[in-house]
Amino acid sequence: MKKVIIGAAWPYVNGDLHPGHIAGYNLPADIFTRYQRLIGNEVMLVSGADCYGTPITLQADKEGTTPEQIVQKYAPRTKELLCDIYKTSYDIFTQTHTKIHNLIVQIFFLNLLKNGYITRKFTRQYYSERDNRFYPDRYVEGECMYCHAKDQRADQCESCGRTLIPGELVNPKAKLTGSEVALKETEHYFFSLSSFKERLKNYLYSKKDIWREWVWKETEKWINELEDRSLTRDLDWGVEIPVEYMDEKDIVDHVENKRLYVWFDAVIGYFSASFVLKFGDKFDSINDLMPVFNEFVSKYWDSDDIDLVHYLFVGQDNLFFHTIWWPALLMGQEINLKLPDNVVVNYFLNLEGQKFSKSRGIYINARELVNTYGLDAVRYYLIRINPENSSTHWYWDDFKDRINNELVATLGNFVHRTLVFYAKYLGNSISLENVQVDYEVKSIINSLFVDFYGNDGFDGLIGKARFKDALDKLMDLARFGNLFFDRCAPWKSVKEDTKSCANAIYNCLHLILAISLLISIFLPDAGSKLAKIFYVDFLYERYSNRLFQMYDDDYLDTLIRENLLTIPSDLAPLFNKIDKIIKV
Ligand code: MF3
Ligand code: ZN
Repeated sequence: MKKVIIGAAWPYVNGDLHPGHIAGYNLPADIFTRYQRLIGNEVMLVSGADCYGTPITLQADKEGTTPEQIVQKYAPRTKELLCDIYKTSYDIFTQTHTKIHNLIVQIFFLNLLKNGYITRKFTRQYYSERDNRFYPDRYVEGECMYCHAKDQRADQCESCGRTLIPGELVNPKAKLTGSEVALKETEHYFFSLSSFKERLKNYLYSKKDIWREWVWKETEKWINELEDRSLTRDLDWGVEIPVEYMDEKDIVDHVENKRLYVWFDAVIGYFSASFVLKFGDKFDSINDLMPVFNEFVSKYWDSDDIDLVHYLFVGQDNLFFHTIWWPALLMGQEINLKLPDNVVVNYFLNLEGQKFSKSRGIYINARELVNTYGLDAVRYYLIRINPENSSTHWYWDDFKDRINNELVATLGNFVHRTLVFYAKYLGNSISLENVQVDYEVKSIINSLFVDFYGNDGFDGLIGKARFKDALDKLMDLARFGNLFFDRCAPWKSVKEDTKSCANAIYNCLHLILAISLLISIFLPDAGSKLAKIFYVDFLYERYSNRLFQMYDDDYLDTLIRENLLTIPSDLAPLFNKIDKIIKV
């Protein structure tokens, strides 16, 4: 049994998520996780609300409230959407704005400091004498010094497209108050990212055959341009610098006005959330925490532990922070922490040729989507169009076509016609002396379960995060099943040749049972309906989740012989057709 720690990106809680977030990291992480549980591994799927940084403070300013209020408003909504509506099977969905997370982040900071990976540097940042505060770049506007366009943000000129650095605006002003701002020196802590170059290279080269090719190549580019990055900001919303545990000589000026950088604290969430799962959150101080900290590391984050597996799922804009930054932060702890085995990155999902943008009305309400079409239909389409190796688009017409022609016509129809026939015309029984598994049926089922662990086997596809292809393997069984059903024409033989009729349905039931063993990782609602009919949980238990052995010819016979397979003749179909698209 493996211990598998799976992290899905922590969304900023400054608004509601759209289907692009679900497709990007949430759904892939959930499929992977459900599969790991199915094969009997000990799993932790962790995530939470990303609460700090300017994305949150900006939203607070926009809504005329505090960052704390923003978190209180959006974190529960986000959690409900992901956990309840999309049934993402998180073991914990917490938030970064908790005592325990803050303490653990401080420990990480202190370790880096102790290990010599933190330096101090002066930088120049916009400051207002009148408001008596520093302003992050996004809070400052002025004239672009290159093209002289007015009202440009301090980090980028929309008019000429240049990326700007502090000092490249004429007449800069604070957006919030209109006060004049000017550059002022400010001292910050920096993380010596560049000193990890060799170790990062070795790490990356060891993953060449595992990661998605494009992710690996993007990461390789980063390795050649590593620069030290600041670990702190002049802000009052974020994790505080643990001065009580630091030497006087290591403390920068005005340390009380500085907070740790949001990308420093957020990635540590994968670690802190898994800690909470095992040791709880009842700790008041770093001293309180230290005794169990090491115990936790040796049980769950020890890189020499060959039973440990660590996967991350994120969107393309998070690539650097998960393939370079987070591994380097883990290395910098110098306690042999487990690095991610795979960082599964997706491109973005767009909407009919445009980027999702709520303010411009290019938007799908993720919650209404499930309310209108059902979870399985939404998950099915999002897997079908998952942006695994390039960005993709949600098209409403395509959604309708794929649900009607694939999910309903292929999978739903095959299952329904077989089960209803079995109930209605065979009276929920088959005499087993007269039937046998057809050669073709056997071989297509084998193609799923034999060589299960090979590169192109089901397990191999999931391990490489090729979820589309894995789902296709199941759909193949349904596609074949429909052809087989048509060819056997049991609706004819039921009158003339009852043996051959029973044989046809018996073989179709075998195919459905095989589908039932794996479908729940993609489509949890259909999965639990089928699991009930076939007592799949019993089967999982009997084979203690050794899925590849689970496909067992005798099992179906037992169900039939003992009259356990009883289908109501008014069985509802697994999925419903979409008659008319309602854009939500
Ligand atoms: N909040 C970030 C975003 O939405 C993702 C953070 S992932 C984490 O882009 F691991 F760092 F938390
Ligand atoms: Zn410009």
